[in-house]
Amino acid sequence: MKRTVKDLVNLKGKVVLVRVDFNVPLDNAGRILDTTRIDQALPTIKYLSEQGAKVVVMSHLGRPEGYEIRKSLWQISLILMEKLSCKVYFCNTVIGQEAKDRIKIMQDGDVLLLENLRFYPEETACDMKFAKEIASLGDLYVDDAFGVAHRKHASNYGVARILPNAIGLLMEKEMTTLTDSMENPKHPFVVIVGGAKVSSKIKILKKFVEICDTLMIGGAMAYTFLVASGVAVGNSIVYHENVVDAQEIIKSAEEKGKKLLLPVDHVVIREGDKKKKKFVVDKMVDDMIGCDIGPKTIELFEKEIKGAGQIFWNGPLGLYEDEKFKDGTNKIAKAVAQSSAYSIVGGGDSVSAVKKSGYAGKIDFLSTGGGATLKYLEDGSLPCIDVIQEKIR
Ligand code: ADP
Ligand code: 3PG
Ligand code: MG
Repeated sequence: MKRTVKDLVNLKGKVVLVRVDFNVPLDNAGRILDTTRIDQALPTIKYLSEQGAKVVVMSHLGRPEGYEIRKSLWQISLILMEKLSCKVYFCNTVIGQEAKDRIKIMQDGDVLLLENLRFYPEETACDMKFAKEIASLGDLYVDDAFGVAHRKHASNYGVARILPNAIGLLMEKEMTTLTDSMENPKHPFVVIVGGAKVSSKIKILKKFVEICDTLMIGGAMAYTFLVASGVAVGNSIVYHENVVDAQEIIKSAEEKGKKLLLPVDHVVIREGDKKKKKFVVDKMVDDMIGCDIGPKTIELFEKEIKGAGQIFWNGPLGLYEDEKFKDGTNKIAKAVAQSSAYSIVGGGDSVSAVKKSGYAGKIDFLSTGGGATLKYLEDGSLPCIDVIQEKIR
């Protein structure tokens, strides 16, 4: 068991560095579209502040190449000021004299947000000199950034190897919920996987076949599986290098007596049709491109969802970003929300699609991780969790 922030004692006056994942979606003007990741990190920050620690918060935002004003964390400090009752300050550097001076004048219980870690190329390079400079700012390190815990970067992987450390409350919640969902699933365990990139999901699909009762595949993923079962998919996206993997997964489901459901009808467009006129077909031919699951498939999936004890969903079932092709994803979101099953949604696009659908409030657990969630489910841990100290018994 990893040491958590609650295991840290005598925090009054201590400088605690807290790594969070404030990598929130921005619009083209740099405005924040959704504050979930900020909200989810508040309990750890509040707890440390209430214990009298000087709380130094750090995060990345986006993938900037050098300084980009749109990706400054300054606007997030304004949100923190609104949401926290303690004093909140901002420092427009991460390391160096300015950061040191700002920390020196902090009172117990104050919060200081540092600038975007990724304005420094040393962050993603996991430069240990940079990690040491960050570590020199504080007495203790708390990792609450589940969403980026699959990346070995200086501020998480590096700093954890230097300072006494613990995981934060969000990290703990993600770990216990996801571990429990894989180790003690409520049956029937229904898994829905969609999205685009088959190669990044093969490993987790193989694991899901072992533990779930029903596996439903939609989105662009489905066409590779349809090809693997000898069904024509017209000009839809197929990951030819993964057809053999898909065949193995289909075979494994058969051998284990698991239900594996693929789409039985499709919303398609014709290649080259600039107006993108959509049709519903049972069989795709020639120049048809699948963009969403069809109404019969929705019904088929809804039936399984209704009878489920637990649901895990990753990956939109169609090109949900386009109004024309969001029906499958939205109807499945509604069905998952209305089912009495314990429901978990994980994945960057999946969570954002569910939020857009308006049913997010009825999902039991929305993971804050994208790639991190799938990696955690695959491996049962993440590199940045591994470097955190164990609880002292
Ligand atoms: P997540 O981030 O939740 O893990 P992915 O990144 O795997 O999900 O997949 C999301 C992407 O999959 C979305 O951009 C969506 O448009 C795309 N997608 C889903 N269905 C289709 C389809 N039929 N054709 C093309 N792209 C699709
Ligand atoms: C995420 O949004 O998945 C995390 O914040 C990690 O971001 P990254 O993929 O840019 O490392
Ligand atoms: Mg994605």
